[in-house]
Amino acid sequence: MYNDMQKQALTVLKNRYSHRKFIDKPLEDEVLDEILDVGLAAASGGNLQPVSIIKVKDIDRKTEISKLCNQGFIKDADTLLVFVIDYFRMKQWAIVEKAPFGREHAFRDFIIAIEDAMCMAQSIECAANLLGVGNVYIGTVNARYEEMKEILDLPELTVPILISCLGYADDKGMNRIKLKKEVVVHEETYKKLSDEDVKREICEYKYDNWLQKLEGEVLDKYIKHFNDVATKVNGEEWAKKVTDKIIDQGGINRAQYRFGWHYNPLVQRSYNEKIFKFYKDQGFKFLP
Ligand SMILES: Cc1cc2nc3c(=O)[nH]c(=O)nc-3n(C[C@H](O)[C@H](O)[C@H](O)COP(=O)(O)O)c2cc1C
Repeated sequence: MYNDMQKQALTVLKNRYSHRKFIDKPLEDEVLDEILDVGLAAASGGNLQPVSIIKVKDIDRKTEISKLCNQGFIKDADTLLVFVIDYFRMKQWAIVEKAPFGREHAFRDFIIAIEDAMCMAQSIECAANLLGVGNVYIGTVNARYEEMKEILDLPELTVPILISCLGYADDKGMNRIKLKKEVVVHEETYKKLSDEDVKREICEYKYDNWLQKLEGEVLDKYIKHFNDVATKVNGEEWAKKVTDKIIDQGGINRAQYRFGWHYNPLVQRSYNEKIFKFYKDQGFKFLP
């Protein structure tokens, strides 16, 4: 059904994973250009392409970004591609052509711009994988907008939203278990999973019933943390269920780790103000 070239490409794409360890081998200019050309061909709402890519190769700048995002491996990648939502260029075009311009008022348009950037980023990741180049995305730029703006000299009406760290990778990556097709793909309309499905497909299949066993003072510390977070976010009744489950299991499961610890909702939501302020300062006017 498929020719050899198609089969090879599909195998590469199906076996992709994020790389966080890079070898000391520079990415050839032709290879990077090829990858960027694939990114530029990506779909774009109205073909407006409200995205810029800032290519960062300078080691001092990479190190600075690495520190800001608190992820040491970033500086080891040969090239960082910072995807920037770019209304600055779009507005300049409107001004040159004497067009009315108000996209900075419309959240709907902004959603499309993020979708555009992700289409471009993913085309780039696919091209990189096909050429044997590793990638990992970095989303934590959204915690350090102001600093990124300074490092990259970003003008108004721009927002850095994602980084691709590209480089030849140390091949010992990890193929993450993904949800099965039956769970992710719905036929015609949305089908809810039963709680039993969730236990089987997510807890067991995807996470192998992962449990971080805890005891003594450490367990007490976690119970206190989870009680505090769940009470503030979901109320006392749910907090009791959360802590009962932790005590019952003798530790924290994957959902508790992800939603209550790693992505602590109190910390995550504390960024709202800073993020909204940045958008406003950059000239975006769609926030209430
Ligand atoms: C929007 C986005 C942001 C991400 N941000 C980070 C990040 O800041 N640091 C990191 O190490 N990985 C980041 N990742 C990579 C994910 O951790 C990774 O895709 C996930 O663990 C699944 O692993 P896989 O890509 O190997 O399948 C990000 C991925 C996406 C799509």
